[in-house]
Amino acid sequence: MRNVILKDGTAVPQLGQGTWNIGERPEKRKDEIAALRLGIEQGMTLLDTAEMYGEGAAEDLLGEAIEPFKREDLFIVSKVYPWNAGKESIFDSCEASLERIGTDYLDLYLLHWRGSVPLAETVACMEELKKQGKILRWGVSNLDTDEMDELFAVPCGENCMTDQVLYHLGSRGIEFSLLPWLQEHNTAMMAYSPLAQAGTLRSSMLENKALQEIASAHGVSIFQIMLAFTIVNEHIISIPRSSSPKHTLENRQAADIVLSADELAALNAEYPAPRHKVFLDMI
Ligand SMILES: NC(=O)c1ccc[n+]([C@@H]2O[C@H](COP(=O)([O-])OP(=O)(O)OC[C@H]3O[C@@H](n4cnc5c(N)ncnc54)[C@H](OP(=O)(O)O)[C@@H]3O)[C@@H](O)[C@H]2O)c1
Repeated sequence: MRNVILKDGTAVPQLGQGTWNIGERPEKRKDEIAALRLGIEQGMTLLDTAEMYGEGAAEDLLGEAIEPFKREDLFIVSKVYPWNAGKESIFDSCEASLERIGTDYLDLYLLHWRGSVPLAETVACMEELKKQGKILRWGVSNLDTDEMDELFAVPCGENCMTDQVLYHLGSRGIEFSLLPWLQEHNTAMMAYSPLAQAGTLRSSMLENKALQEIASAHGVSIFQIMLAFTIVNEHIISIPRSSSPKHTLENRQAADIVLSADELAALNAEYPAPRHKVFLDMI
């Protein structure tokens, strides 16, 4: 598994595991836990969750999934609701996430999306959580280029480790200005919904001939090609969500797929990156 090096020198695997919609159906719990554990064993040790997911249910399931592993071998990411991201609520929110996951600290804590709490207040709270040892680092999610500028202008704003944004083959808007901005500022990008939610965010992809031909040439599924595409850029961390061991294994294998220049050109022709600024895509 290739690593992405964060600005504090920490190496994280380029492929992690998401947890949205996980932990909400008792009949699926066994498979979801098995999938996460298999992924961890296969090196997908970066685990992304949020207080929002199932209102804590995903954090709770993640806590059970990680029980057999050493805490220091994992990189756990959680997120705070925007309305909890101020001094009145963030400390309780973080504590509740820690309790549900069953850990003393988060490796990374993200502002889930921008709300009405001033960025300067959120950053000050994140820095305080770092001092308290509750989180090791912090970042943001769903912030566009102009908002990253604003963030870096507040005290300690440049300590932001990552911006987690929607990115998949069929949604490449960030390649125009946000991704170059993040690279210039040595801030990692984390791609969410890298499988376009199994194609549901752009269903025409499932029928795309070029994608099908490339998948068939590699003997893999189109989803594995979509995932491999999101990590061609060595600055991007991708966090697919799977709730079955079969999908998890396929996703892990995607990290080993090398797309040739011709294949990348074919994908670019089908799904070109924009040549002008487009608003940040989000769900
Ligand atoms: N910061 C944010 O605002 C934000 C927003 C959205 C997501 N996220 C994070 O990003 C993670 C991933 O995004 P996502 O959950 O929206 O969507 P995703 O990872 O693009 O897609 C998940 C879907 O793909 C299916 N799948 C997984 N592996 C597959 C494979 N190898 N072949 C075929 N289908 C496969 C899953 O089915 P099964 O479940 O049946 O395996 C599920 O239906 C989330 O779980 C969450 O942690 C963050």
